[in-house]
Amino acid sequence: VNRTLVQLLADREQELRTRHGIAFRITGIASRRLGWHADPNGFDATTALSFHSEREGHGFSRAENASKEGGLQPLRGPGVQHWLQAAQADVLFEATSLNVETGQPAIDHIRAAIEHGAHAITANKGPIVHAYRELRDLAAANNKHFLFESTVMDGVPIFSLFDQLPVIHLQGFHGILNSTTNVIISEMENGLTFDESLKKAQSLGIAETDATYDIDGYDAAVKTAALVTVLMDVPIKLEEIEREGIRDLTPYALRNGRRDGWPFKLVCRARRTPTGVQASVRPEKVLITQPMARIAGASSYIYFETDIFPGLAITEENPGLYATAYGMLADFVRAIKSR
Ligand SMILES: NC(=O)c1ccc[n+]([C@@H]2O[C@H](COP(=O)([O-])OP(=O)(O)OC[C@H]3O[C@@H](n4cnc5c(N)ncnc54)[C@H](OP(=O)(O)O)[C@@H]3O)[C@@H](O)[C@H]2O)c1
Repeated sequence: VNRTLVQLLADREQELRTRHGIAFRITGIASRRLGWHADPNGFDATTALSFHSEREGHGFSRAENASKEGGLQPLRGPGVQHWLQAAQADVLFEATSLNVETGQPAIDHIRAAIEHGAHAITANKGPIVHAYRELRDLAAANNKHFLFESTVMDGVPIFSLFDQLPVIHLQGFHGILNSTTNVIISEMENGLTFDESLKKAQSLGIAETDATYDIDGYDAAVKTAALVTVLMDVPIKLEEIEREGIRDLTPYALRNGRRDGWPFKLVCRARRTPTGVQASVRPEKVLITQPMARIAGASSYIYFETDIFPGLAITEENPGLYATAYGMLADFVRAIKSR
């Protein structure tokens, strides 16, 4: 995601400067295996992308070669705070892998960024589910933005849509929010095996680092929890969401379902109750004439029920990684312009 963001930033650099008055430098790059790299003068996009693109075997050839040439040395100091300072960071783009159990290390990265004085933008759902209120309040206390538009439906403006709908009451929603399982279901209906279908989703770059998070419904449940927590203001725990993945759906059942006019979909649901919110993620048979039945491949769909608009739906057709990166870019513009 962040590599695609680097490409998108390079592509839109001039427009950002001329139309929005925003200039930027990439001054820090970090990952688990690369370590922490910083240069307050900025890495150009080609250098930034070379950190990963020439990865070979266990090594990172470009980074290692450049290190030998005296170029790209990981910082020797400890951890994220030191890195943020060395990079003189104004904005952090956090895109580490999803950790459904704890939301770490993303929560620590975001907390450190805000305490350092930077806006924090993330595509990682873990921090929303495990630390939304804390990070929101920390950002507000430090006059910084904590933004996360790319966590649900890639870059589609879901959270910022509700910024445009003040004092509306969200009663519930349903939708298809996990692209990997939707690709698997679509491809299995077309005759591929489960493994071939999963490989196809992975080749599109949309699968989680650990694809069992997709297959067993965790990713969809985390997205459901993020929407409930932020938009319904009920901090629901993952264990409170009834969850079933797609592991038990056989090619036979999928093809028959489609043939009979009731195709299977992995459906996320949430509904306000007198005591809180009831939420689920599970395979459901959907009537072929319903909009959800037409959501194929990597596409997603959400239908909101509010007290003002009884039904408000958004469909996202076949997004790529640029859609996710775009959500982070849009958050970046929002954060900088509303300073
Ligand atoms: N791909 C999508 O379509 C999409 C859409 C919306 C949201 N997201 C979210 O965006 C995030 C990134 O997704 P991705 O597809 O870019 O995943 P990815 O290609 O697997 O990249 C994950 C990155 O996180 C780094 N990382 C993992 N654990 C780390 C740790 N403990 N400390 C430091 N770095 C760590 C990895 O570093 P190493 O390579 O060094 O291990 C890797 O660079 C995830 O949270 C995902 O849920 C993805």
